[in-house]
Amino acid sequence: MEDREIVLSVQHLKKYFNVGKGSVLKAVDDISFDIYKGETLGMVGESGCGKTTCGRTCIGLYDKTDGQVLYKGKDVHTLMGKERFEFKKKVQMVFQDPYGSLDPRMTVSDIIGEGIDIHHLASGKTERQNMIYNYLEMVGLNREHANRFVHEFSGGQRQRIGIARALVVQPEFMVLDEPISALDVSIQAQIVNLLVELQKKMGLTYLFVAHDLSMVKHISDRVAVLYLGTLVELTTSEQLYANPNHPYTQALLSAIPIPDPEIEQERDKNKIKLEGEVPSPINTKPGCKFRKRCNYAMPVCDERMPELKDIGNQHFVACHYCDQQRKL
Ligand SMILES: Nc1ncnc2c1ncn2[C@@H]1O[C@H](COP(=O)(O)OP(=O)(O)OP(=O)(O)O)[C@@H](O)[C@H]1O
Ligand SMILES: [Mg+2]
Repeated sequence: MEDREIVLSVQHLKKYFNVGKGSVLKAVDDISFDIYKGETLGMVGESGCGKTTCGRTCIGLYDKTDGQVLYKGKDVHTLMGKERFEFKKKVQMVFQDPYGSLDPRMTVSDIIGEGIDIHHLASGKTERQNMIYNYLEMVGLNREHANRFVHEFSGGQRQRIGIARALVVQPEFMVLDEPISALDVSIQAQIVNLLVELQKKMGLTYLFVAHDLSMVKHISDRVAVLYLGTLVELTTSEQLYANPNHPYTQALLSAIPIPDPEIEQERDKNKIKLEGEVPSPINTKPGCKFRKRCNYAMPVCDERMPELKDIGNQHFVACHYCDQQRKL
């Protein structure tokens, strides 16, 4: 893996929001990871842990508070002129909400055509029209859909339109922000399969945001687990499922139901349960952010935030308890 090209390198990224009266909300709080060319990096964590903020900051839709994001070695937040224009073509996002992310006053043709126009990708009207038809068909829609408005489509179809809009500019890297969470279970697999197929066909690199671990395993080469704005574990899908280290990852995994009631009952006895609510990300104190819900919390967990450590085998963990266990 290490000799593969790094597409996106995120280094100590912080994104804080000022939320009034001098309070600071630490949505992303010192996160580092790399994404390699052609891979899918899954990003999981409970609602509000900073997945969308991280995705948006990584592609320059939000300014950063601190740290650095490099796209093929160039700082995303200082790109100017032609380089910035090119970057906005190469990097696309499919948004979490297929209802709110498409302009209801535009036809599907206008929505998909916008990127073609901005980046001058068609030499004339006919080529533009054909491109729109091609991309509609590529995502499983058809040319009859081109002149309709967004409200005439189902959630799954809207998400396909969002995917076509992102793909038409021929990007290299896509942030897919929970592209299937708002959809019926029966449609979810179709969209996932479509994304996998398009990735192969177009050599795309994905940051795939989700809060459902069972689905992430299916699509991701590696998985990053976020907790309250920090990265707690990062490894290959296989490693994460076979050998989860962080107590939070273990809890997330044990929350995935097993269809067989007998196995489920047996497993229930050893289940690590997540107690309590996710704490507020506003004006957080130093120390591990998970400590209040962690069965293994020690005094050091109150004192300082654990660093993300390489434990070998492409496996990174940020946990004082795990550090201690490895030393024993
Ligand atoms: N523009 C903003 N201003 C202030 N706070 C924000 C803003 N955007 C996000 N937040 C806060 O940052 C934190 C992370 O939000 P974010 O949307 O990134 O979470 P998420 O992991 O994507 O959640 P979900 O799974 O629900 O989509 C939350 O506490 C949220 O309230
Ligand atoms: Mg989100």
